[in-house]
Amino acid sequence: MTRIAVIGAGIMGEDHARIVAHDLPGATLQVVCDMDIARAALVAQRFGAQHTSDDPQSVIARDDVDAVIIASPDFTHAPLSMACIAQGKPVLCEKPLSQSPAECLQVMAAEQAAGRKFVMLGFMRRYDQSYVEMREALVSGAIGRPLMMHNFHRNVETPAADFTGAMAITNSAPHEFDIVRHVLGTEFVSVSAYQPNRSDARVAPVVMVLETMDGQLVTIEVNNNAAYGYDVRAELVGEAGAIAMNNVAYTRTDMKLAASTRYDTDWRARYREAYVRQNRAFLDFARGGALPAKASDCWDGLCAALVAEAGAKALATGVKQAVNLPPKPAFYSLDKGIAA
Ligand SMILES: NC(=O)c1ccc[n+]([C@@H]2O[C@H](COP(=O)([O-])OP(=O)(O)OC[C@H]3O[C@@H](n4cnc5c(N)ncnc54)[C@H](O)[C@@H]3O)[C@@H](O)[C@H]2O)c1
Repeated sequence: MTRIAVIGAGIMGEDHARIVAHDLPGATLQVVCDMDIARAALVAQRFGAQHTSDDPQSVIARDDVDAVIIASPDFTHAPLSMACIAQGKPVLCEKPLSQSPAECLQVMAAEQAAGRKFVMLGFMRRYDQSYVEMREALVSGAIGRPLMMHNFHRNVETPAADFTGAMAITNSAPHEFDIVRHVLGTEFVSVSAYQPNRSDARVAPVVMVLETMDGQLVTIEVNNNAAYGYDVRAELVGEAGAIAMNNVAYTRTDMKLAASTRYDTDWRARYREAYVRQNRAFLDFARGGALPAKASDCWDGLCAALVAEAGAKALATGVKQAVNLPPKPAFYSLDKGIAA
């Protein structure tokens, strides 16, 4: 049995605890840790964890913990990932690795000094069937050479009253930055960002146009106040055809001369299968396998942070920004290709 600790027992942590307890044969939910010990106790009790704690560092150091899932807030990700590396424990760290590129580089340095990869990032869309099929269509040549990828990311309402357009870029859009890099198998070279010019709008949508190293154009709309439901769309356009994501709906209601499907209030149901696939891949990794070729690693975390940083600057200045990536260390090219 691989004994897993979940750190942070909020929305995502509870979901991870449920997956470990119900959907990961060969894993056991050993510890649930949250700064709010009552919250840790609730989730531990709900999913049958042996232990609770409010101290992440001591949890990572425990002899009876083999692997760690970090689902606490963004600012904790890099320090807790480094603690896992120091303890030699594989870690599935929720996105982002850090919003600070400098901090991503620190985690990369720690991992390289340790001589092997320990960190897998929770960019779970790489395991979503829609994106898997888009990548397959590209790799097989079915839609010809890729020209454009369009992306829409809509939430019902912003998570906080003081949410800003810049936060939409640094907080929500990294999922798109990562999945587009993965599907297209390339890197971004520039980003422009725009908002509708409406002073009365509550956190207006952000629209980004990005260029890739291979000359493709990518559009990303992030609308965190879409009101009507959680809705993610994507379309990959090639020279010989296009492949678009279908909205996942198990039923359609026909009534009163109209047909309708329903939207979820958030992302958890839409990506349920992707989270399970991702966490199963993490379990294989934690048992001693190589980091799966399609998993996100610290290099991918750095790339997402650098694109987000450039995107926020493009929005603030109204000027297209270059995305300046450092040379990719050979360490991050090992046992990791661009396989579908
Ligand atoms: N992969 C995805 O689709 C996805 C979706 C949403 C959020 N996220 C990421 O997951 C993380 C958690 O998001 P959430 O929506 O579950 O947040 P949340 O606020 O619901 O939960 C965070 C929990 O962490 C606890 N916490 C805070 N500081 C802690 C610390 N130092 N040690 C231990 N526990 C601590 C809080 O008490 C809270 O219970 C964020 O980094 C977010 O970016 C990923």
